[in-house]
Amino acid sequence: MQSLQAKQELNMQKNWCEKLDLLIAEHRDMPGALLPLLHAIQDDLGYIPESSYAQIAKALSLSVAEVHGVVTFYHHFRSHKPGRHILQICRAESCQAMGAEALEAHAKKFLNVDYHQTTADQAITLEPVYCLGNCALSPAVMMDDEVYGRVSSADLDALVLEASASSVKA
Ligand code: FES
Repeated sequence: MQSLQAKQELNMQKNWCEKLDLLIAEHRDMPGALLPLLHAIQDDLGYIPESSYAQIAKALSLSVAEVHGVVTFYHHFRSHKPGRHILQICRAESCQAMGAEALEAHAKKFLNVDYHQTTADQAITLEPVYCLGNCALSPAVMMDDEVYGRVSSADLDALVLEASASSVKA
């Protein structure tokens, strides 16, 4: 007999397959359809599952290796499910000049993860980013969709703790 969790996972998988069909249908006839389709998938799901590469490749007459190559080429795309929040630290020039390196070292230690990894409680995924358009207030970070400037290690800790607490289910 199937557990409730197994049934829920099966339903989610079925819903996702149907959603992927829809996204493919919406994008397949666009010129250069692959990039907009990958963006749409990531916007919807938060990442691009490797299990979808074959379906994408078939729909766009590409090879699976080509789809994989594009997903891995662009820093923006994720191939694994992220945590409930995404913390991006700017690594571009202005932020580097204002201490981003020390900030990222602190973040990795505080979260106990490297870039592109998620904390053990699934709360935060840490990612590098290359300019958030907030150079005048370097060093800058982005938590989900919110950009923060002149971020100290203490500010970063506070952001992480607030995000982690807000995503804990009551
Ligand atoms: S260099 Fe970091 S926001 Fe522009």
